[in-house]
Amino acid sequence: MGDPNTRKLKRYQPIVEEINFLEEEISVLTDDDLRKETNNLKTKISSELDIKKQKELLEEFLPKAFAIVREASRRVLDMRHFDVQLIGGMVLHECQIAEMKTGEGKTLVATLPCYLNALTGKGVHVVTVNDYLARRDAEWMGQVHRFLGLSVGLIQQDMSPVERKKNYDCDITYATNSELGFDYLRDNMATDISEVVQRNFNYCVIDEVDSILIDEARTPLIISGQVERPQEKYQKAAELSLELIKAKELSKDGIDPEGDYEVDEKQRSCILTDQGFAKCEEYLGVNDLYNPQDPWAHYITNALKAKELFIKDVNYIIKKDEAVIVDEFTGRVMPGRRWSDGQHQAIEAKESLKIQPETQTLASITYQNFFLLYPGLAGMTGTAKTEEVEFEKTYKLESTVIPTNQIRKREDWPDQVF
Ligand SMILES: Nc1ncnc2c1ncn2[C@@H]1O[C@H](COP(=O)(O)OP(=O)(O)OP(=O)(O)O)[C@@H](O)[C@H]1O
Ligand SMILES: [Mg+2]
Repeated sequence: MGDPNTRKLKRYQPIVEEINFLEEEISVLTDDDLRKETNNLKTKISSELDIKKQKELLEEFLPKAFAIVREASRRVLDMRHFDVQLIGGMVLHECQIAEMKTGEGKTLVATLPCYLNALTGKGVHVVTVNDYLARRDAEWMGQVHRFLGLSVGLIQQDMSPVERKKNYDCDITYATNSELGFDYLRDNMATDISEVVQRNFNYCVIDEVDSILIDEARTPLIISGQVERPQEKYQKAAELSLELIKAKELSKDGIDPEGDYEVDEKQRSCILTDQGFAKCEEYLGVNDLYNPQDPWAHYITNALKAKELFIKDVNYIIKKDEAVIVDEFTGRVMPGRRWSDGQHQAIEAKESLKIQPETQTLASITYQNFFLLYPGLAGMTGTAKTEEVEFEKTYKLESTVIPTNQIRKREDWPDQVF
């Protein structure tokens, strides 16, 4: 009976006591002994190749590992993890979301599961929302891990691939969600293994998890590149389409029954007929409009569509020498938006505007899909209960509320917006 959260917390109490009990023997060890202990644990755990057995080893050594981190933190940072922080650490290790109020020391809590999971040698990521926090936490909490002989990495926006790789190879790496995501995309575009900077994902703790996994979940990370398409082709295709349209006007008098192309208004497409193909090839002096070395077909159909289906002052307007899309549902102009796949360029050629370079999506992923790639995913935040259902549904992440270390006197009022 009773509140399920309280029941959950009860389960951790015996382990807290075990960690507290170990304090006596751990606190008399020298700094060197602590490093040796770490090294022993790491050798034992990382050499276990069976994943299930390795997990069991992590459970087995959790109390000892937590006791070691607590002692190191006391020596290095003069902060001894409170009992509730140990519980927070266990919740994170179990790949849940730990809700801990502002100021309860989530940064320090993360050192516990990060140290433990780094003992596998497979790397741990600590995810923060900005570069400043990544640096702060790496420098601040990194001292504890380094003291114990683990390597600590930090990814910052302006780093070169070589630096990134070096930092990803560390036992524990601090990085922002966006750097992690973009490095993942770039790694996927690499054409040689030497260009890949990340290792396989293992375990990560996300700070301010509600903002990353809920608010920004659907934000796509996109890498786009410029497409090499010669401008002359757009212009030439525009001229050619004029010829075809002229011929079509004539054909209305019954002179040319087959026609050079057909317009499908519903599908919003234009298709060349056999006669049209022959005519275009002759006009351009080529023998195959689909020649991969010198393609034309796509330019011609875009140019025809630009003439037949994209009407000035209906589908777009010309403003300051630019073709601006008009939203077909709202009738509003949408500056900055462009039709894709060379269509906008074809319209620019038609209107004798400057033809803008074309970009193309080369790789993309949402944060939601990205973080689901981690076999071990955990998070911490000041407010998880309100999004509990979404965490559970989307990520299969359970949330646990960790009590404050001391009775809370602060009143947390809702935001006021002026
Ligand atoms: N065990 C501890 N002993 C002493 N001080 C601590 C302990 N744990 C945390 N602190 C201190 O509490 C302060 C707040 O910690 P921290 O910034 O990690 O909180 P937080 O939970 O991340 O808060 P927020 O939700 O605002 O991000 C820090 O100054 C930290 O040094
Ligand atoms: Mg914090």
